[in-house]
Amino acid sequence: MRIIQTKNYEEMSVLAAGLLGAQVLLKPGCVLGLATGSSPVGAYDRLAAECGEGRLDFSQVRTVNLDEYCGLQPDDPQSYRYFMDKHLFSRVNIPQGNTHLPNGLAEDIQAESQRYEDLIDSLGGVDMQLLGIGHNGHIGFNEPAPDFPRRVHRVQLTESTIQANSRLFQRIEDVPTQAVTMGIGTIMKARKILLIAGADKAGILETALSGPITPQVPASVLQLHPDVTVIACKG
Ligand code: F6R
Repeated sequence: MRIIQTKNYEEMSVLAAGLLGAQVLLKPGCVLGLATGSSPVGAYDRLAAECGEGRLDFSQVRTVNLDEYCGLQPDDPQSYRYFMDKHLFSRVNIPQGNTHLPNGLAEDIQAESQRYEDLIDSLGGVDMQLLGIGHNGHIGFNEPAPDFPRRVHRVQLTESTIQANSRLFQRIEDVPTQAVTMGIGTIMKARKILLIAGADKAGILETALSGPITPQVPASVLQLHPDVTVIACKG
């Protein structure tokens, strides 16, 4: 595991975009696993700028996002599809059909979970998976639990995650209580993992990376992955 500390969010974003961009340069048809949230916004801005300046080409890239809320329309400003279109997909030359998120509106979420897991496999697996980390150690929407979930599945969000996510909604009652997420097993199948974390995550990052490996701290499983880069900002 490589751990890089940066002095601020901007430096973290520049480095993260550099690694994601290098992946695209090395393998133009690569599969990127992507995340939403505040951590990756700066990196997405940077990737969009590089694409706009002709230094990166996303025309053959395929993307799979970690997760999506249940019950939100794709054009709902709180949906992860909306977030990704706004922060990245509409700003780079990626064909919309190459971008994938779980369908949180599916009537049969179990079938949808299976479809999404199979889709990732059929794309050849994820070359580089970008992750953020929750204050409780969640990755994707894999919350602290008795076991590490293996596959894409539906989750009930914990109170602390609903609280954390409510900053993006007008009222806490509007925060969806369920989501579809890649499982820990799905995430661990990625060939490379890039975890980015703001200064507010220093405590949980320390616990996850140097404490015991336990599903009570889902990100701790990353200690077992052969190719993880962590970029953590100090300030
Ligand atoms: C987002 C996701 C979450 C976030 C995590 C950190 O798709 O799966 O695990 O990465 O909650 O969120 P931020 O970056 O907003 O602190």
